Amino acid sequence: MFTIDTHTHIIPKHIPDFSSKFGYGEFIQLQHHEPTKAWMMQGNKRFREIEQNCWDAGTRISQMAEHGVDQQVICTIPVMFSYWAKPEHGLEVSKFLNDDIAQTVSAQPDKFIGLATVPLQDTNLAVKELERCMKIGYRGVQIGSNVNNLNLNEVQFDDFWATCESLNAAVLVHPWQMMGQEHMNKYWLPWLVGMPAEISRAICSLIFGGVFERYPKLKVCFAHGGGSFLPTLARIVHGWECRPDLVAIDNVKNPKEYLGKFWVDSHVCDHKMLQYVIDLVGANKVIQGSDYPFPLGEAIPGELVKSAPLSNEDKKAILSEGAREWLGI
Ligand code: CO
Repeated sequence: MFTIDTHTHIIPKHIPDFSSKFGYGEFIQLQHHEPTKAWMMQGNKRFREIEQNCWDAGTRISQMAEHGVDQQVICTIPVMFSYWAKPEHGLEVSKFLNDDIAQTVSAQPDKFIGLATVPLQDTNLAVKELERCMKIGYRGVQIGSNVNNLNLNEVQFDDFWATCESLNAAVLVHPWQMMGQEHMNKYWLPWLVGMPAEISRAICSLIFGGVFERYPKLKVCFAHGGGSFLPTLARIVHGWECRPDLVAIDNVKNPKEYLGKFWVDSHVCDHKMLQYVIDLVGANKVIQGSDYPFPLGEAIPGELVKSAPLSNEDKKAILSEGAREWLGI
């Protein structure tokens, strides 16, 4: 079955020393310590060890063949967002990453589809960079679940949402800068507890802040099956019902009305959870996403869906049709 993996990360093999260039900050650097391995360095700290499949298109293509993946949607690694940097530097980093992905896509357009990154610390610059990317063949943009702790419904992002809508850009919301991270570093809790919560925060902010009302044609996909939003939806709806004075102050619509209006990826690690997510949003709004090539991602992208007790029709929707609709291809 034709398979589009909508959630994969890629990074250039070599990254300029932005910290020295700009004179501040811990911009990510790569230290290649083995021919096929590199450390992502954040200042003097080792952030993560990555392998060749993180930067080398050829390696990715042979693994895609092994895994039965036909196309990958590629976007940067969230630690590269650099929303904390000065706007002009955020723009420079974004352009560097976007030009690299554009090259990879144009070399293998049948294999790769690009999502850009934009400097959301400055909406005007973000809009301009998104416009530039959409002109050179990008299908959309990946953004963080919050921007320097601002929720995505803040008015300062309105022009960004308006641009995504008018350019028909697919938006992937990826958890980043996880809430409470500084209080729970042990046990990988930012990844295990923070990430699902971040996505629920993003979905709730967009719903309660009325963003989906103001920009009804937005095409937003939330990573990791929508994080903890769907598993805790009944609680969220109950809160909306029992304390509208706290919850429904900017948008009176029941959060349930938004089910089926956004996409979530399929990376939920469990068949029962996958079925539950499908029951809530519909198979056509669940799209194959693996978080390749990271260990917390799906080891064999597409395996969860392909081995699930689902109809062929549903599998087809998840593995390719929903992605085509989201990406506008
Ligand atoms: Co990811």
